[in-house]
Amino acid sequence: MQSDHRPSGPAHILITGASSGIGTALALAYARPGALLSLAGRDEARLNEVAAAARSQGAETDAAVLDVRDRDAMAAWVVAADQRRLIDLVIANAGISGGTHGGPESAEQTRAVFAVNLDGVLNTVLPLVPRMTGRKAGQIALISSLAGHRGFPGAPAYCGSKAAVKVWGESLRGELAAQGVKVNVVMPGFVKTHMTDVNDFPMPFLMSAERAAEIIRRGLEKDRARIAFPWPMAAMAWFVAALSPAILDPLLRKLPKKN
Ligand SMILES: NC(=O)c1ccc[n+]([C@@H]2O[C@H](COP(=O)([O-])OP(=O)(O)OC[C@H]3O[C@@H](n4cnc5c(N)ncnc54)[C@H](OP(=O)(O)O)[C@@H]3O)[C@@H](O)[C@H]2O)c1
Repeated sequence: MQSDHRPSGPAHILITGASSGIGTALALAYARPGALLSLAGRDEARLNEVAAAARSQGAETDAAVLDVRDRDAMAAWVVAADQRRLIDLVIANAGISGGTHGGPESAEQTRAVFAVNLDGVLNTVLPLVPRMTGRKAGQIALISSLAGHRGFPGAPAYCGSKAAVKVWGESLRGELAAQGVKVNVVMPGFVKTHMTDVNDFPMPFLMSAERAAEIIRRGLEKDRARIAFPWPMAAMAWFVAALSPAILDPLLRKLPKKN
């Protein structure tokens, strides 16, 4: 009997924000012989280190220094990656957060957060949608956040951008299911990365990026519509979002603000 040398799981995975945190951990969680990883980030040195680590685990890599806000550059890179080898899984992960420093969030910061967290996701995913539906195959993972369940005064643009990604992803999942393309919304709680290293308030159930990546990888393998974790935080965020603003708003105003 002939042995099957195809790797189990997706063979070509494209990840944005692979140069740090959850993106790095995802790249290494998928790195194995037979896999091609197309990785993007802005910091060339860190991105190259991640690509080298993935190659040392047996994967092929293509590392691109790109800003997800650059629509044309993203489309060109994503389509070229798909032409090189059909993409099985795209993970739109790149994101930034912003705090209000105790005051109102500036117009500049608001636009910057939406540009990366929302336009950046669209720039990553949209060029692939017609290609994936055309071949009735592929999987699209959108990294939202538990902060997307409900707006918090400490991070309006971040919460708003993550809510948009969540709801867009839920809709897209229903729309593309009939065309053979899977869509998954990922909603992590607190994960230890550069993004959370600046937080000076308690972060319940803080977990490592490696653990988060493993939960995401397993959730995607099972094609879960929503991959929300850790479960106590996910349950709390869901419950809090269901409360009336009349009860919730006065409480939320007392929460610590992100700097
Ligand atoms: N950490 C958490 O607790 C947590 C919780 C829920 C959701 N998330 C989400 O998880 C995702 C990854 O965050 P993380 O915690 O891993 O943070 P991180 O360590 O700060 O990593 C963010 C990644 O996004 C990239 N990036 C940022 N702006 C970019 C741009 N304009 N163009 C291209 N790449 C850009 C960064 O690239 P460079 O480093 O090369 O600049 C980096 O690779 C984000 O979408 C975040 O909102 C995080």
